[in-house]
Amino acid sequence: MSNYHIKHLEEYYQVYRKSVREPENFWAEVAEEHFMWRKRWDNVLSWDFKKPEIKWFEGAQLNITENCIDRHLRTKGDHTAIIFEPNNPDETAEHITYQQLHDRVCQMANVMKDKGVKKGDRVCIYLPMIPELAISLLACARIGAIHSVVFAGFSSKALASRINDSACKMVITSDGSYRGSKTIDLKSIVDGGLESCPTVENVLVVNRINSDITMKEGRDLWLQPLLDAASAVCEPEIMNAEDPLFILYTSGSTGKPKGMVHTTGGYMVYTAYTFKNVFQYKDGDVYWCTADIGWITGHSYIVYGPLANGATTVMFEGVPQYPDFGRFWQIVEKHKVNQFYTAPTAIRALAKQNISFLENYDLSSLKVLGSVGEPINEEAWHWYNDNVGKHKSPIVDTWWQTETGGIMITPIPYVTPTKPTYATLPFPGIQPALMDESGNVIKGNQVDGRLCIKFPWPSIARTIWGNHERYKETYFSAYENMYFTGDGALRDEVGYYRITGRVDDVIIVSGHNLGTAPIEDAINEHPAVAESAIVGFPHDVKGNALYGYVMLKETGESRDQNNLRNEINQLIKDRVGAIAKLDKIQFTDGLPKTRSGKIMRRILRKIASKDFSNLGDTSTLLNPECVQVIIDESL
Ligand code: WTA
Repeated sequence: MSNYHIKHLEEYYQVYRKSVREPENFWAEVAEEHFMWRKRWDNVLSWDFKKPEIKWFEGAQLNITENCIDRHLRTKGDHTAIIFEPNNPDETAEHITYQQLHDRVCQMANVMKDKGVKKGDRVCIYLPMIPELAISLLACARIGAIHSVVFAGFSSKALASRINDSACKMVITSDGSYRGSKTIDLKSIVDGGLESCPTVENVLVVNRINSDITMKEGRDLWLQPLLDAASAVCEPEIMNAEDPLFILYTSGSTGKPKGMVHTTGGYMVYTAYTFKNVFQYKDGDVYWCTADIGWITGHSYIVYGPLANGATTVMFEGVPQYPDFGRFWQIVEKHKVNQFYTAPTAIRALAKQNISFLENYDLSSLKVLGSVGEPINEEAWHWYNDNVGKHKSPIVDTWWQTETGGIMITPIPYVTPTKPTYATLPFPGIQPALMDESGNVIKGNQVDGRLCIKFPWPSIARTIWGNHERYKETYFSAYENMYFTGDGALRDEVGYYRITGRVDDVIIVSGHNLGTAPIEDAINEHPAVAESAIVGFPHDVKGNALYGYVMLKETGESRDQNNLRNEINQLIKDRVGAIAKLDKIQFTDGLPKTRSGKIMRRILRKIASKDFSNLGDTSTLLNPECVQVIIDESL
């Protein structure tokens, strides 16, 4: 019996029980029946959360692009793999068939090989949401190079630090990008970054906006002529199941971003299996995830998961508000989208607009609605359900992380009864646990605690690039023999999970994870700044916005505070990216500190949220008197 496609609740429980009782048999069956392996594994799973070391399908050999492309060619060569919807609605959408995708991936792979990229080399991809982005990921995978996609909204500095952290040999970018009514000079951002990246030998440049850019002799190459000359046949490199597939950077509470390393076999099996079930994808459906491939959601659920299932996946270059707030719904109607997967921040922004933007379009093709990236609030959930799903398309509130590779806690549509704001039940193979502050597992229902996972699943990140110690410290040290997620959650009376948000210093702004440390470092570079602290505060569209408390070296009124605010935000834009700009900046003469010198962010968070009750015990502070001053200044 195949467990691959779960169709009713009884079956979910059956499959789930099996996945817990006999995890190895369970995953071996899924892997065996639905994928193409060049060599079978010797061992399904070996793991030790103490080291930590996790290996799935050890000894197996495969190439993920054979699974995502080649094996569909016989039956689906002329079916659409990718629908590219350009930023400008007047530009024609592109339908790329599986055969065309095969040829374009092979050409790109051959160009990369020709420029000296080999198995195990790292390639940085810094591209807008155009077909070449998906093709670049797959071309890397074709030849066994490790891709490191950097979201094309990050600054030169942020790009350079990611390139250097993993010593990338090549960068793939474009002259520029379209974003709504704006164009962005991507190539000049890359040029800025590469001034400090000695390992990069070549930059391949896609011509997207026809702009006049500088090409550095010997380093930069226009991609198109090379592709035109390249062969459309490229034999896939045979990879071990545990060979790295990609690195993707995510923010931590402290320090520089963490390069999460995902490997090949387990990641493929898990993303494909979750995609099939969480979206109930059927042949012929059109699936659209609005995320950017610069984030994990795009890796797993625009590229690998859908393509491994032979699906049709939409890539949208633009933004929800261009040319107006009806754009998403226009695209749903135009391509007859069946599964639509987006983020709460987009839902909230759309819900604020006149309902006619939505009512102008035919949304009757929709069957499943997804949400990801942050907790979805009750109001947004109902708006989505009432107006987009019209009470007939179930909402799947999918909880997962860059580190988990795939969806972990989620309803299965038409199977799991949904409940507003609840991610509901663990996916087969996922064993969640709630922990109390002293490290004990909290049993029973109607409880809340810190969310951990007590057993490995195939797509868990295996390490942090170049820093295994930090991997251990961040995820496996807080609780013994557990993977710690960094999130808090509650479990209701029937065992449904609701994610309550981060319990560390990561702040999710418009669905983007931001660590406080790099932002504070940027602010502190300003010559007038002595020290700073960033916290999140509730925002009705972004979920959270950033509030900065900034201590100046010289106190007093002499400085032009508006100018300073602009300079600080400009610094943040240059060092981190525009997504990390502060909504509010409060200049202050002191920051509350513990006796060991740590800033007490808990208090600052409360003040930023204008919640002055219950500030907790401030008597242990080194400088308790500053709290009232900060409150007064904030009013
Ligand atoms: C949050 C995105 C509540 C959570 C796939 C997690 C969510 C972090 C949900 C990971 C959800 C993601 N409900 N919170 N459905 N999905 N989160 O790495 O705090 O960009 O730890 O991965 O987003 O964000 P990341």
